[in-house]
This record gives sequence, C-alpha cells and structure tokens, in this order.
Amino acid sequence: SVKREMLYEGKAKKVFLTDDESQVIVEYKDDATAFNGEKKGTIAGKGVLNNRITSIFFKMLEAKGIPTHYIETLSEREMLVKKVRIVPLEVVVRNIAAGSLAKRIGWEEGTILPKTVVELYYKNDELGDPLINHSHVDVLELATPEQVAELEQMAREINVYLKAFLADKNLLLVDFKLEFGIDTDGNLILADEISPDTCRFWDADTKEKLDKDRFRRDLGSVEEAYEEILRRLGGFAL
Ligand code: C5P
Repeated sequence: SVKREMLYEGKAKKVFLTDDESQVIVEYKDDATAFNGEKKGTIAGKGVLNNRITSIFFKMLEAKGIPTHYIETLSEREMLVKKVRIVPLEVVVRNIAAGSLAKRIGWEEGTILPKTVVELYYKNDELGDPLINHSHVDVLELATPEQVAELEQMAREINVYLKAFLADKNLLLVDFKLEFGIDTDGNLILADEISPDTCRFWDADTKEKLDKDRFRRDLGSVEEAYEEILRRLGGFAL
C-alpha cells in the first residue's frame, strides 16, 4: 500500500490516504493534549509505544471476534487500517470510579462500580465533548438507535476481553474510551486506538497509575509508564 496525501491531522495522530480507497495509514505522534486541548505537551516516544500497544489490543480483540479497523502494523509509528466514517461519539466504559465520573456522581476515585457504566460523549471540540444521552444522539442524528445498541453491546464485550487480558498482566482496567466507524462495506467496526492515552490502567497491587493521568496530573514518569504497559503486554510485538 502506497502512502498518499494526508487526509486528516488530529491531536495524537495523522491519517493518510493510500492507493487503496478502502484503507488508510494512521501515523501516531508524540503530541499530548488534555482538558480539551488546554494542556499541551509532548511525550517522547509515545507515538511508537501507542502504535505497538494498540496493535496488541486490536489483534487480541480480532482473535475474539470483535470487528476492528486494524489490518497490519507497518512501521514503528504507522498502522494500516480500514477507512471508516467515524461515528461522532466517544463511548466510555467504566469499571472503577475515576476522573469525570468520580466528580459527577460524588464517589471516591478507586471505588469499584457494582455494575459496568457505559457513557456516550458527543465528539465535538467546540462544545468540549459533552456527555449526552440516547435522545440527544437521536435528535442530532449521530447514529441510529440500532447502531447505538450495537456499539454499546460491543463496548461491553470489549470490556470483558480487555479486563481479563489485563488482569493476567496484574493490571486493573479502570475505564477506557472507544470510537466506532462505518467501513466502506457499511459495517460498524471498532476504530481509533486503545492505549494509555485512552484508558486508565492501574497496577493491581500498588494502584500506581500507568496511563495519561500521569501527564494530566503532572505525576512525572509518563513515558516510563507507557513503556511499562507495553512491557507487561509482551513487549515489542510488531
Ligand atoms: O475524563 P474521564 O474520566 O471522563 O475519562 C474516562 C476515560 O476516557 C479515561 O480512560 C480517558 O483516558 C478516556 N478519554 C479519552 N478521550 C477523551 C475523554 C476521555 O480517551 N476525550
């Protein structure tokens, strides 16, 4: 697949067209943003680490039967994926109270949720990605009710697989964000990335944070935390 012109540049990734119109190349950058772009920085080597980490998670999920955009890892920073029309929703799944949920419902960070919580956020930078409900998704025509049901069900299944996979590596999956897309054949598939940028991972024993909260909260050793996640997942699998 030949890399053609850039289609889109996001906060952490660039997307390039290829000579195959059903495929694009994602290039992972070292840029990091938080709080809706208010906090900016770079994390040396983050792009390489997130490309590898996302590759491992997507391969595992594909093997479990979850349809994803992942095709193959091309280089240190590049991944070949199916071209999709992104559904403008951020689907957040939570197992333990943290971040905005801890604040919203007044539960202490670290409280185990008695039931899995699934939330939808409207992917809109100008509005700051607000939390929305099914009725808002419907009136905005972001997805059909059937698509919402399907992507929420997929998100719950992905949670089951990720939680078990990470538990085996002595990691707690606190929460994570997913994005879905419609591929050129019209199928709803998992897209974007699964990495320490988009998940909260805690060491199961020490509860040490091994994710982007180290950047958001200025805890230091951000790069080292991402390296530790890759190491526990089995390292340099390309
Ligand atoms: O900030 P909040 O607690 O709502 O984040 C929940 C989860 O979703 C965290 O794992 C966070 O990394 C992820 N997230 C994300 N992109 C956003 C918002 C949240 O990856 N724009």
